[in-house]
Amino acid sequence: MERSFVMVKPDGVKRGLASSIMARFEAKGYRICGAKLMQMSEDLAKTHYAEHKERPFFGELVSFITSGPVFAMVLEGEGVIEEARKMIGKTDPKEAAPGTIRGDYAILKSENIIHGSDSPESAEREISLFFSSEEIIEQSSAA
Ligand code: CMP
Repeated sequence: MERSFVMVKPDGVKRGLASSIMARFEAKGYRICGAKLMQMSEDLAKTHYAEHKERPFFGELVSFITSGPVFAMVLEGEGVIEEARKMIGKTDPKEAAPGTIRGDYAILKSENIIHGSDSPESAEREISLFFSSEEIIEQSSAA
């Protein structure tokens, strides 16, 4: 079954939004098969965001994402990668539709509350960067 990596960023955790964001994905029908509050190291931040390393905002991005704890999740369900991105909304919260997570909770592109994998390759890479296999719990979809 398809899995995606989703992470509430430090701004969302500080504002107490982690549980309500997780609840949106659960209410939609996705299973949470891994979840943890964690402090990202600078190394992990640079690896996670390696594709942006030449961008002018890279330093700001690394310092923001390591500025406090994040709430990392592995979600499972049919079509979860694309659908979670729709639920999250556009990168720039000003362009994110109301009803999406960024549209409802964020204003700034640099502090946009949540990250979600953008492809099957990113999902696989990000899940293995953040979670060990023991931290991912298989749940029966028949439950
Ligand atoms: P995310 O989905 O986590 O992936 C990369 C992040 O870079 C993105 O969300 C934004 O938070 C951030 N980002 C993208 N463009 C800018 C920008 N112009 N200035 C600051 N941060 C940005």
